[in-house]
Amino acid sequence: MPPRRLAIPRPAIGAEKRQGMSEQLTDTDFDRFRRLIYDESGIHFGPNNRSVLEGRIRDRLRRTAAGSVDSYYRRLLKEPQELKEFLDSVTTNLTRFFRNTAHFEAFEYFVIPELVEKKRHKRENRVRVWSAGCSTGEEPYSIAMVLKEVLPPDLTFSVIASDISLKSLMIGKAGFYGATKVKGIPERFLEKYFDEKDGGYQVVPEITESVTFDYHNLINDSGLRDLDVVFCRNVIIYFDEAAQKAAVQRLYQTMNPYSYLFIGHSESLFGMNTGFEFVKTKWSCLYRKSEERLSVS
Ligand SMILES: C[S@@+](CC[C@H](N)C(=O)[O-])C[C@H]1O[C@@H](n2cnc3c(N)ncnc32)[C@H](O)[C@@H]1O
Repeated sequence: MPPRRLAIPRPAIGAEKRQGMSEQLTDTDFDRFRRLIYDESGIHFGPNNRSVLEGRIRDRLRRTAAGSVDSYYRRLLKEPQELKEFLDSVTTNLTRFFRNTAHFEAFEYFVIPELVEKKRHKRENRVRVWSAGCSTGEEPYSIAMVLKEVLPPDLTFSVIASDISLKSLMIGKAGFYGATKVKGIPERFLEKYFDEKDGGYQVVPEITESVTFDYHNLINDSGLRDLDVVFCRNVIIYFDEAAQKAAVQRLYQTMNPYSYLFIGHSESLFGMNTGFEFVKTKWSCLYRKSEERLSVS
């Protein structure tokens, strides 16, 4: 029996079933698409996520009017822009302002005071924070608002926000959010750092100007160095162990000695020889880069 193929979608309503849209990818198709995604982003699609991947491929076929799964796959190999769009389509961009309040408390009451002392001691006046896998910007803007509130005025700060989802980066850059998106923001921040307009909320320039959005894929070296704090939360959870280790090693290289790393609360560096030290604070757990540079084994 010939392998079953994903049919070419047609726009007519009700045509999906007749065109075989409910059919599944062949095992070979599934394997080569998921290998490509893994090689290009570290994102791992296991058999349990197969239907999700099929849905995303169907969607791209529809949008690009690709003739077949096979021709679409070959197009991905040839067209870097379509590959970016495809990778964007397989990412999960769920996020919210002040996600995991305990992290922001540890940031404000534990990390920042220590950082201020360190900066004073080293006679430095610049704090640099990276939100790696920033999605639509809620995380870097939350970070920037906290820094704006609690850093002494003689210290300046910048937040670098990066992702592989171009659509998400554009939303982040615009800094405009609907009413449902701003729900978790403490009232004092909402009043001070957002302008209510056009039925939504615009982040004020004072904050947007401190955040730089950039495309960056965590499977590559970012070239960033001397970071004081890195947030990489709910990103490596989509990677397999090898890709997680490699990504964490790259984060490590970007960070100053005694700097701090926040990862998602369901993520862990347990069992990885990373050079990060597990730190339990009154508010939440986080990781500190130890002085010596160790490499991930
Ligand atoms: C679930 S969101 C997390 C957003 C935010 N950090 C948070 O915790 O709310 C995961 C983000 O990681 C991004 N991502 C996935 N793989 C990536 C990679 N290889 N390089 C950079 N970003 C990646 C996705 O595009 C997505 O926006």
